[in-house]
Amino acid sequence: MKNYFDIAGKGIVITGASRGLGRSMALGLAEAGAHIVAAATNGALLAELEREIEGKGQSCGAFAADVSSEEEVEALAAFAARKLGQVDVLINCAGINRRGLLTEMSKADWDDTIGVNLTGSFLCIKHFAPLMKSRKRGKIVNIASIMSVAAAAMAGPYCASKGGVQQLTRAAALELAADNIQVNAIAPGYFATEMNDKYLNDPEKAAALLSKVPMGRWGEGDELVGAAIYLSSDASNFVTGHVLCVDGGYLCL
Ligand SMILES: NC(=O)c1ccc[n+]([C@@H]2O[C@H](COP(=O)([O-])OP(=O)(O)OC[C@H]3O[C@@H](n4cnc5c(N)ncnc54)[C@H](O)[C@@H]3O)[C@@H](O)[C@H]2O)c1
Repeated sequence: MKNYFDIAGKGIVITGASRGLGRSMALGLAEAGAHIVAAATNGALLAELEREIEGKGQSCGAFAADVSSEEEVEALAAFAARKLGQVDVLINCAGINRRGLLTEMSKADWDDTIGVNLTGSFLCIKHFAPLMKSRKRGKIVNIASIMSVAAAAMAGPYCASKGGVQQLTRAAALELAADNIQVNAIAPGYFATEMNDKYLNDPEKAAALLSKVPMGRWGEGDELVGAAIYLSSDASNFVTGHVLCVDGGYLCL
């Protein structure tokens, strides 16, 4: 029987791969046989990831880049094309969350959040899609959020950016459909990563947060891997513009 979920040998670029969800996906997709290019701002952590993946006999190239800089994204795309030969999949996972009240938020914090989460995803689509168009195949997976749909106080720029990522996904899906490039998103719920330190370090805040999650627990990093494999593989060849929630039921409420 054909394995529709086979991603062995695919060239996959993951931004935000130095830690958290991007790192978990890089490890999981490498284990499934993909060749990885891992990007983020922290070169030292990326080098560790590269060693870890290569130590298991899998392939990884690390490239330090700030996705909010068009020049650095162009350099990343050139590196990925050289390293992988072909880029089959782009996963836009780099993200930040500058918290605070909108009335007290600096414009710099607003700009940085939109710049990484939304503009960064746009820039990567802009510079990676041409590599896929020339082969008439490719997959782009944007990491959105439950905050693409639900909102939270003290997270205005984050919610705005992730709402934008959802619509960017749909617009890009339409523009790239004729080139056989599928553009989808994964909307994670609450995962126990450094982005949620504020809650992880405060049992009361964590309990209040988890009381809103039907499954009543944090997501584990490797619980995004299955969704990433699905959206990277032939199993999703006629799926585009979709946002796949991996949220323990959060958005059902
Ligand atoms: N953790 C959650 O509960 C959760 C929920 C929903 C969505 N997400 C999304 O998942 C993604 C990963 O989040 P995480 O929890 O792993 O966070 P994290 O803070 O642990 O990791 C963020 C990653 O993004 C990278 N990054 C930050 N700014 C960058 C830039 N300018 N250029 C390139 N890379 C940059 C960091 O180096 C790091 O590798 C983000 O897009 C986040 O919004 C997370």
